[in-house]
Amino acid sequence: MQSPSLSIDLNVLSANIQKLKSGLSPGTAIMFVVKSDAYGHGIGPVVQQAARDGVPWFAVAYFEEAIEVRQAAPEAEILVLGPITPEEVPEALRLQITPTVVDVEHANALGKAARQAGGTLNVHIKVDTGMGRMGFLEGAVMEDLGPILKTGHLHVTGICSHLAAVDLKRPWLQEKQHTRFRNAFQAAEELAGRRLMRHFCSSRGIQYYPEWDYDAVRPGILLYGYGCNDPRMRFQTQPLLQMKSRLMQVKRVPEGYPIGYYSSYRTTRETQIAVVGAGYADGYLRSLSNRGEAILRGQRVPVVGRISMNWITLDLGPDLECEAGDDVILIGKQGEETIWADWLGRRAGTIAYEILTAIHPRIPRSYVP
Ligand SMILES: Cc1ncc(COP(=O)(O)O)c(C=O)c1O
Repeated sequence: MQSPSLSIDLNVLSANIQKLKSGLSPGTAIMFVVKSDAYGHGIGPVVQQAARDGVPWFAVAYFEEAIEVRQAAPEAEILVLGPITPEEVPEALRLQITPTVVDVEHANALGKAARQAGGTLNVHIKVDTGMGRMGFLEGAVMEDLGPILKTGHLHVTGICSHLAAVDLKRPWLQEKQHTRFRNAFQAAEELAGRRLMRHFCSSRGIQYYPEWDYDAVRPGILLYGYGCNDPRMRFQTQPLLQMKSRLMQVKRVPEGYPIGYYSSYRTTRETQIAVVGAGYADGYLRSLSNRGEAILRGQRVPVVGRISMNWITLDLGPDLECEAGDDVILIGKQGEETIWADWLGRRAGTIAYEILTAIHPRIPRSYVP
């Protein structure tokens, strides 16, 4: 095959999960964030493996993704982080999917839909403590939650919030969010007259604030092997996704030879240029033009010229011995060299999340084991 392919090592995922399971506070569950096709890793196999490894909860952004999780993990608990619609409530009831409610109107609409469907829907309250995205403001929790708790067809089982930052230079940012979250869950639990499932931290919060583990944490990127680049961090995990392609043509060109659209690169000596099957249509970001690197025969080589839709070009230098058909590692490891998504992200002016989720779902994935 000359186009890119992915290999995803589920043994590494299991090891990552095991690390968290054994290092989190006693009583803290993992709610694994598998939205966006499990950050590009493929939702079905990832969820199946994690469920086998004892992960009890999965979180997704959209309702359609929750249905995919249910297919892969019939017994798991599933939380939808974004607001589902009233039309989705009958299916949520049938598949035992827990939505978050983001304001009083949303709660009322879901409660009405649950009543019409003749069921009681478990929900988590989402509190906006500083992200400025979805959820009840802290004051609104106090004002609006009483009536929501009395809505017969909604059963509030949990309360959560999301950190906008874990900034080590400005710790008051996350501390302020945490104070708001604490105020909100205390008020909510007092109104409910019972303990709710509390969850607050995603990967970076997990790394730096063990005291905020609560009943569950919501790791995404950390379980995919990123978000642990400082060895002093609480958890060290390993990446599981590798992306490779094939060398399609190698040719020797003279000094000053133009490469790619608009000749954004010119060779600085006589050299070998290699063409590799991968491009922005595969999710290899165009911003890696003249900035990316790849691994060929165990050596790191620069991506030169503009990334085109289906091909990239590498400057191999005059001496590297290789031939068409050789494997080219775009994300991953070969010999001593590694190129991981966080490194590529920095080169492209973005983050590992975008590198991973940009990978086109059409690219074939193979899973180990
Ligand atoms: C609400 C919520 N919780 C948890 C996560 C997981 O974040 P991370 O991948 O940084 O652990 C996300 C990801 O965007 C999210 O939106």
